Amino acid sequence: MAGQNTIGIRLCIYSLLIKWYNLYDMKHVILDTDPGVDDVMALALALASSDLKIEALTTVSGNAAVEQCARNCQLVVEFLHPENPPPVALGATQPLVRPPLTAHEVHGPDGIGGITQLHLPDGLRKYPEPTLSLDPRPAPQLIVDLARDLGERLSLVTLGPLTNIAQAIDLDRSAMRNIGEIIVMGGAFKVYGNTSLVAEFNIFVDPEAAQMTVGLGAPLTIIPLDVTEQVRLMRGRIDSRLEAAPSAVLELVRDVSAFYMDYHREHDGFDGCYMHDPLTVGMAIDHSFIRTVPTVVAVETTGELTRGMTLAELRPGRLPELPNAEVAVEVDAERFIDFFLSRLQETMKNAK
Ligand code: BDR
Ligand code: CA
Repeated sequence: MAGQNTIGIRLCIYSLLIKWYNLYDMKHVILDTDPGVDDVMALALALASSDLKIEALTTVSGNAAVEQCARNCQLVVEFLHPENPPPVALGATQPLVRPPLTAHEVHGPDGIGGITQLHLPDGLRKYPEPTLSLDPRPAPQLIVDLARDLGERLSLVTLGPLTNIAQAIDLDRSAMRNIGEIIVMGGAFKVYGNTSLVAEFNIFVDPEAAQMTVGLGAPLTIIPLDVTEQVRLMRGRIDSRLEAAPSAVLELVRDVSAFYMDYHREHDGFDGCYMHDPLTVGMAIDHSFIRTVPTVVAVETTGELTRGMTLAELRPGRLPELPNAEVAVEVDAERFIDFFLSRLQETMKNAK
């Protein structure tokens, strides 16, 4: 009997040690986001990934007003019901020096493809108004607190304009410099922009904040349109997965992306959507989806026609000696799409 007790205690200690080790081994991540349809898909991927510990969701004015973006984050968290829901914080209401610019024509009236207006046959909302409360700290403060606590164990992944990051740099530059990695969705180098001829949305909205971020000196990886526009999720692909097996989280992906896909069908000529933000989270999970090169990146803040343009030396043989960023230049698009769909379907069983 005494022997059985000892074995029981030992097993208990081992399982606690394994749990503690797994927790220690996870990547600690802040997602700074402006949901946004592809932001929602990125949040779902992050919350479905047990190799990431999502420390916080910080919101910024971008695709929609920041209050709406925060509500959208909370709605997604409540629907997906993760074991440890991360805090959601309200961030910058407008860019550092410019007026806000939203993208409702792309992301719908609520910023998440109109899913707040979907109702079930009993009349209740399919994706109910969230009840979670917000973290009391403004987003830049929460980012700095986590940077101080976690230092180089922290990965900061940005999916919207970089206003919160610039404000966090103003609060504590040295803590921000010590972050393990910053992964930014933004920029367009060898391709046209999606907001002007030369600029991508996240950088166009707040070029001053983007310039501060690339000048910080923390390890920085940039995921530009050059690679994100190669990663397309087609409508038929979600439908056939759903036909094969029901999945609440894939249903969310289908619902949230319908409006966004209509936009792409009309403007970009394919019945699907670009996976800008999910690919950026994918990079935090597994660097092998993307090939990057080290270079010097700069952001145009003064040009009349070139606001928010991103520039980098990417010619082979001419890479600079003192790079300030890794820029993504190649992506394994098919492997990523497959990974995205499988991970959501296999792990997000708690979704309502
Ligand atoms: C980026 O702009 C936003 O509209 C998307 O959410 C993505 O973060 C792509 O240019
Ligand atoms: Ca976004």
